[in-house]
Amino acid sequence: MLFEALSVIPEVFSPYLETSIMGRALRSGVFEFRAYDLRDWTHDRHRTVDDAPFGGGPGMLMKPAPIFEALDDIGSKGPRPHVVFFSPCGTRFDQRAAERLADKERVLCVCGRYEGIDERVYTLADDVFSIGDYVLTGGELAALVVIDSVVRLLPGALGDEASSVDESFSQDSGLLEYAQYTRPSSYRGMDVPEVLLSGDHGRVAQWRRENAIERTARWRPDLLESARLDPNERARARELMLEGEGD
Ligand code: ADE
Repeated sequence: MLFEALSVIPEVFSPYLETSIMGRALRSGVFEFRAYDLRDWTHDRHRTVDDAPFGGGPGMLMKPAPIFEALDDIGSKGPRPHVVFFSPCGTRFDQRAAERLADKERVLCVCGRYEGIDERVYTLADDVFSIGDYVLTGGELAALVVIDSVVRLLPGALGDEASSVDESFSQDSGLLEYAQYTRPSSYRGMDVPEVLLSGDHGRVAQWRRENAIERTARWRPDLLESARLDPNERARARELMLEGEGD
């Protein structure tokens, strides 16, 4: 899979993508990455990419021409890229969206800076993603979030193939992941739940399921509505949420 990024600060991607798990996946050919400097598609001496908004108001907007021309050029070589923009006004990026992108051959991330982008540029977008309800100074961090979450789904990206499956948001259950522990079994007065030391796989599975429901009720009660729970579990979830409201 090929990821590309168009940005006025194209140098910010490599330090992250060449390190640790992403770096290993890059070196082993799980994905490829190319960054482009948007200023390479300007035609003035100052390599201007922004201008004042029509109608007035604070800040500068990214001009349409450099982005249109860059996408014409980049897109004319190779398979048609799936073009992704980033904005707090976009649709919320989630695990489903990551799974959908993981099926694409080529994803081009267009990273805006300044106060925003001329609206006409969005006609080029296949997706516009927000990574959360807060405002960043640009789309580069959002692009890295998207690339990381997609790459780890690609075959061979993680050492252990199973580890991208049984986790929060990927489970069919729609619940957060259960709590996990490693050695030592007792640390600073905190003990690992006894059942996890028992070796009884049935009891461990049961505990994990209950723990996932408890954690979801506590931290993400909004997910419980659409989680797949049997009637007993749903009753338990309701109970936990009522208890939580008392906090
Ligand atoms: N650009 C600025 N803020 C953003 C956000 N929250 N998500 C995606 N892109 C952004």
